[in-house]
Amino acid sequence: MNTTFQKDIELGLSATNKTLPSKYFYDKIGDALFVEIMKMPEYYLTKAELDIFKNQTNDLIKALKLKPSTFFELVELGAGDGTKAKQLLNALDEQHFNFVYAPIDISEHALQNLKATVNSELPNVKICPKQGDYFNVLADLKQTEHPIIVLFLGSNIGNLPDARAIEFIQKLNDNLKVGDRVLLGVDLIKPKSIVLPAYNDAQGITKRFNLNLLTRINNELDADFDINNFEHKPEYTETEGVARSFLVSTKDQSVTINSMNKTFYFSKGEKIHTETSRKYNDHILKEILGHSDLKIIDRLTDSKNLFADYILEKTDS
Ligand code: AVJ
Repeated sequence: MNTTFQKDIELGLSATNKTLPSKYFYDKIGDALFVEIMKMPEYYLTKAELDIFKNQTNDLIKALKLKPSTFFELVELGAGDGTKAKQLLNALDEQHFNFVYAPIDISEHALQNLKATVNSELPNVKICPKQGDYFNVLADLKQTEHPIIVLFLGSNIGNLPDARAIEFIQKLNDNLKVGDRVLLGVDLIKPKSIVLPAYNDAQGITKRFNLNLLTRINNELDADFDINNFEHKPEYTETEGVARSFLVSTKDQSVTINSMNKTFYFSKGEKIHTETSRKYNDHILKEILGHSDLKIIDRLTDSKNLFADYILEKTDS
């Protein structure tokens, strides 16, 4: 039970610079806190991308080079509640495009909800949800004759350090055919005065989101973290364009994880790195697309120029 989780936690806390993987934020409580984060005034990312999907829907359709006569599959990686995608689905449906929507998510629960809302709000849209890891599901797509359009929204790619983002793009590239397109949503590099509050909101929701990782370790691995002895601390510099969140130990302390029979020591001021949220510009994105065959063919931004949806196409060579 919990073996991968346990191994990842043990590895991260044993490192000289302690770290915990951000993917473990998303248990039931973490999912609910993230929904709250998306609603807070400081968290501009979701609102900015929704602005593009709401107000530039036809530009998106044009940029993706979609044709009403050609059947295609719209695959969404990490669909969640599909709020943004539904804007696009609605327009495609109204204009009688011939397609199937295939949301992929690790959460069966999220997929069931999404299927139910699409069925009731957009009864003409064919939906074929797939539960699982992105790449297992993507591998199946390679067999298909019809064009694939991949949606990877919300700057989710930003959680990957650059080296891992490059690997991810290569794998995505390998699972697509020439001519397939990708809609990649990324947060843009901007001043600290805008980015930092998005990860340090006045209501303290992001703080709870970050600390929930320790609560989860307490609950699932029988540990004794005292969350009152850790502070939430995000950092960002505009020159680097990377936001990082940390949990900082407020005193010298030890924490025991009973399920692994181990005690970890934290000195006062010691940091645990819990999340990376990279911000992008054209130059950085081109570096990450690197030697893949995915080329930028278009770019749409919201009215405040905070967020960009890049359109990529797989080319031959
Ligand atoms: C869902 C990964 C895009 O990094 O901005 C929000 C997650 N973390 N507040 C982000 C998150 C803290 C979010 N992503």
